[in-house]
Amino acid sequence: MNAANAHPLLTIADIALRTGLEESLLRFYESEYPNALPTKVLRGDALLFPEEAVAAFQRLHRRQAPQQAPQPPDRPRYGRVIAITSGKGGVGKTNIALNLAIAIQRLGKMCVVVDGDLGMANIHLLAGLPPRPGMTELLAADARPSELIGEGPEGIGIITGGSGIIALADSDQATRRRMIKALAEVERQADVLIVDTGAGMGRGVRDFLQAADEILFVITPDITSLADAYGLLKGIDQERGGDDRRPIYSVVNMADTLQQAANVALRFSDCAHRFLGRSVKNIGYILKDATVGAATARRTPYSVFRPQSRVSKHTHNLAVALLRDEMDELRISSAFGRYRKMLDNGGQP
Ligand SMILES: Nc1ncnc2c1ncn2[C@@H]1O[C@H](COP(=O)(O)OP(=O)(O)OP(=O)(O)O)[C@@H](O)[C@H]1O
Ligand SMILES: [Mg+2]
Repeated sequence: MNAANAHPLLTIADIALRTGLEESLLRFYESEYPNALPTKVLRGDALLFPEEAVAAFQRLHRRQAPQQAPQPPDRPRYGRVIAITSGKGGVGKTNIALNLAIAIQRLGKMCVVVDGDLGMANIHLLAGLPPRPGMTELLAADARPSELIGEGPEGIGIITGGSGIIALADSDQATRRRMIKALAEVERQADVLIVDTGAGMGRGVRDFLQAADEILFVITPDITSLADAYGLLKGIDQERGGDDRRPIYSVVNMADTLQQAANVALRFSDCAHRFLGRSVKNIGYILKDATVGAATARRTPYSVFRPQSRVSKHTHNLAVALLRDEMDELRISSAFGRYRKMLDNGGQP
């Protein structure tokens, strides 16, 4: 047996087989980190890797924290940014944001929930977590985007609004820009970002509504909920322009019966279609359930407190419906990245 057989030379395809890593990712590592890899050897007219390259690629891959692993440049993927909103307050946005994130995570997707409710940030309270610095405070202290993400229940990520986010309500331009840039980075690290916005069309809320790939309206059978939701949709429609085809969904919360929920959903989508020419797809129903209040009293998300409850099952169904409805073309560009470009080009938030 000669020396070459004892230590075979390897192509990228061989290394992909040996490491289980994709060839495009290996090529990306090769171009980005040439100094971390052994020198290639000329064999015939091909440059091949020596055996040690297998371990070197594995080391390189391990060194990238899983969330920070660079995307192969030929297939960039960005998480879906779904903003949860409502015209009127108190309709269940924060509860749905948190429990939907948990349901999505249970379905095998990496989910980060962003507390975008200016001044009223409270996801961490519902999740039973101790207070932690909010994203504006962390960004002011030069934190990296991945450091904004705290650990929430069942492995979801939580980006806390915190009290510092009040500064955002005053829309300090530099802070807003920094937040948008950081969230664009977070999009590379998660499959889905759920943003819990405040109600209505306040200044800070607009950034999220303008940037989001998808908007999920929470509506309730309360008559003012529907009227306010319609008012907000009209505002969004005007800001986004008629040719914007990003999906808009609704979920009916706190209905007493499915019949009532279906009527509410139909009324909303009918108005949207008739007066704005917008299609709003209803994607779920969550009935009124005392489990929500009981879970809040225990500072536990309801889907953790009682996973078999009606409200947890409805939220699971909502997650399944959302994951089924993915628009692939929105995955190849970053929602916050697009928004940032629009602001750079003088677009109005
Ligand atoms: N399906 C439900 N069944 C019963 N109660 C619910 C349900 N969903 C939400 N609630 C209750 O409604 C209230 C408002 O919920 P939540 O704080 O999630 O709403 P919100 O839209 O985020 O409010 P805000 O606009 O103030 O941020 C809470 O007391 C919550 O327990
Ligand atoms: Mg809320």
